[in-house]
Amino acid sequence: MKAIILAGGTGSRLYPLTQVTSKQLQAVFDKPMIYYPLTVLIAAGIRDICLISTSNDLPRFKHLLHDGTQWGINIIHREQARPSGIAQAFLIAEEFIGTDNVALMLGDNIFSGSDDFPRALSTFRGGATIFAYLVKNPEHYGVVEFTPLGQPLSLEEKPLKPKSNYAVPGVYLYDNQVLEIARSIRPSARGEMEITDVNLEYMRRGELHVHRLSRGFAWMDAGTSSTLQEASAYIAAIERRQGIKIGCPEEAALIRKFLTIERFEALVQAMPNCEYRDYLSHLATETRNLGKMS
Ligand code: G1P
Repeated sequence: MKAIILAGGTGSRLYPLTQVTSKQLQAVFDKPMIYYPLTVLIAAGIRDICLISTSNDLPRFKHLLHDGTQWGINIIHREQARPSGIAQAFLIAEEFIGTDNVALMLGDNIFSGSDDFPRALSTFRGGATIFAYLVKNPEHYGVVEFTPLGQPLSLEEKPLKPKSNYAVPGVYLYDNQVLEIARSIRPSARGEMEITDVNLEYMRRGELHVHRLSRGFAWMDAGTSSTLQEASAYIAAIERRQGIKIGCPEEAALIRKFLTIERFEALVQAMPNCEYRDYLSHLATETRNLGKMS
């Protein structure tokens, strides 16, 4: 499976922060926001990633992520000239997707805890898989309603009167039909190619699977100043309590064996002295010690 990270938009809800830096490059506690979705993909074993952003912000993403070889992955960068909706990402990345399946991840969605995503990925057999997460304010999201037997019954984009409290987070898995479906999507009333319309088409075909995220799972959308602050506080609390980092691509690449310990150490050595480097140095030592024991 390949993956797209969509990091477009003007970030108007984060003004004035987004005057100088794209929304997905803002700090979420100790790392740029984009590190979090990226790490989820690496941890799930995905190596081929297409990063989509605006022409204005692409140079900064390239500066930060390069072509991914430093983490043992491949990242290509593509431009979304106008914010014409999430589903447009498939058309922009059409050549990159080729004949493969593809995961789509929104660059401002932060996930932490449990292995729901890697599990859904490893059991993916075609069609589309989306996720459902209980929230208090479903009207801000895509909303899925279930039958008593747990099958998806309806799916609506930001309904005024939500039929359930299950919101659809910004991570989606698709088979290759998504290209043909995306080509047929027309802009909605707000002028965007809606991802919900893609999912509705899969539902119409009887090929939409909805995975309910477990209770311990955390999904945060860091699109406004208060949710950005909440996400930072949440990540900080877990990192300080457990002494682990969330959203660390180097660590995920090492665990996935995308990087050998030697390449990992070289990467760490090239970093300036900082707490992030200390964390990774410690990880390198632990990995070497584990290697000696086994
Ligand atoms: C988008 C989708 C929505 C989804 C949300 C997740 O909304 O349209 O269905 O629930 O992402 O973050 P947006 O935040 O782009 O308005």
